Amino acid sequence: MKSFEKLLLENKAWAEEKKSVDPEFFVELAKSQTPEFLWIGCSDSRVPAEIIVNAKPGEIFIHRNIANQMIETDFNCLSVLQYAVDVLHIKHIIVCGHYNCGGIKAALEKQNADLVITNKWLMHIKDVYRFHKEAIDALPTEKQRVDLMVELNILEQVKTLSHTSIIQKAWHYHQRPVIHGWVYGLSDGLLKPLVTLYPDTVIDPIYKYDF
Ligand code: CO
Repeated sequence: MKSFEKLLLENKAWAEEKKSVDPEFFVELAKSQTPEFLWIGCSDSRVPAEIIVNAKPGEIFIHRNIANQMIETDFNCLSVLQYAVDVLHIKHIIVCGHYNCGGIKAALEKQNADLVITNKWLMHIKDVYRFHKEAIDALPTEKQRVDLMVELNILEQVKTLSHTSIIQKAWHYHQRPVIHGWVYGLSDGLLKPLVTLYPDTVIDPIYKYDF
């Protein structure tokens, strides 16, 4: 059996099992989605959002990219954010990074001429390094430097979210969503909360919208 054929077979078995437990499972799920959470995570195959929090289909609206970034000029994550906030009325956004992240590691290396597009995607992470260069360079091991960068990058993405008009408008008119920055440990499977931004968070005036 080819590897992709196994996926199709597993899917059939999964759907059968779901139906055997609850014959209406897919009929109900197909009607609408009302997730309470938006998850912005890393594309890394070892950090599967629903699995690590034991969530069911319909519970989490998900966006994943390399190094869980929220970039103000990226229409992909912005459109996910707008739909999640303005249409699905989600209550919580979780930015989830993970220790030992390959994207973060790559951002701390030289640029690679064979990966020009990926390099560009990592540019904002290089900025995070530049802002905190002293604290990061002071750490003795590469692992420590990468893990601190992982955490700083999560804080940065949470902050970037709060600088968008989508979030500031929702905070002003609807007092939601709460934004969480979490980090996942590949070696123990555990999530650790790092930061929480509530709708009354004070925004630096240069990032502020007036409504
Ligand atoms: Co990663």
